[in-house]
Amino acid sequence: MSSIIKLEGLEKYYKVGKNKLCVLKSINLDIESGEFVMIMGKSGSGKTTLLNILSFLDNFDNGKYLFDNNDVTNLTENQRSVFRNKNIGFVFQQFNLINTLSIYKNVELPLTYSNSSKNIDKEQIINDKLSAVGLLDKSSYFPVQLSGGQQQRVAIARSLVNNPQIIFADEPTGALDSETGIEIMNILKKLNSQGKTIIMVTHDQDLIKYATKVIRLKDGVLSMEV
Ligand SMILES: Nc1ncnc2c1ncn2[C@@H]1O[C@H](COP(=O)(O)OP(=O)(O)OP(=O)(O)O)[C@@H](O)[C@H]1O
Ligand SMILES: [Mg+2]
Repeated sequence: MSSIIKLEGLEKYYKVGKNKLCVLKSINLDIESGEFVMIMGKSGSGKTTLLNILSFLDNFDNGKYLFDNNDVTNLTENQRSVFRNKNIGFVFQQFNLINTLSIYKNVELPLTYSNSSKNIDKEQIINDKLSAVGLLDKSSYFPVQLSGGQQQRVAIARSLVNNPQIIFADEPTGALDSETGIEIMNILKKLNSQGKTIIMVTHDQDLIKYATKVIRLKDGVLSMEV
């Protein structure tokens, strides 16, 4: 397997009034392509901050970030967004679907932002992804007409349309009952077995069994279990 993410001595500060708060402290991390990584830690330990940096949503202050063997430490905001659209899919705790758009249109959204969408059969891709999560028959529905678990499956379909290398998921089961959460985990597990790298934040110890690597954050300091 090849390294997809490598962090060396990464640090992130937030300015709070006159003070500088160090929320990620000298983080070293190596994630290989095809892994299923769980990030755990108490509220405020830095999980979302780390996820946002890894997924090119946010920048950092010190250290080095290699993505797929490219040095992405000093990307501009525009370059970060190009990297993000090309390589990353997102799944959130609260699904983040757009309520005024149909399921089909929600899944289409990342394609409309990407440059590579000119010569591809959009409809085929969208229908494939909706089939993959078992919701092709709900194409013309709107988010409010679906259950929470179904909405999260739509969010997963949406995260897949650009064929990203990595899916980032911030507590994807956090708003669901445990049975529905297991359905979502099984979809993520299947995607992982098909080669997608998954990096997810969770508070749920029971989900560790899905992981190939568990990362724990405590006050911005990272430790690792395999
Ligand atoms: N924009 C910001 N400005 C200042 N401080 C921030 C900002 N965002 C986060 N923080 C602080 O950084 C630390 C880490 O926050 P983060 O959101 O990464 O935690 P988390 O582990 O995701 O917590 P939770 O489990 O509650 O989601 C916290 O102390 C938080 O207060
Ligand atoms: Mg968080």
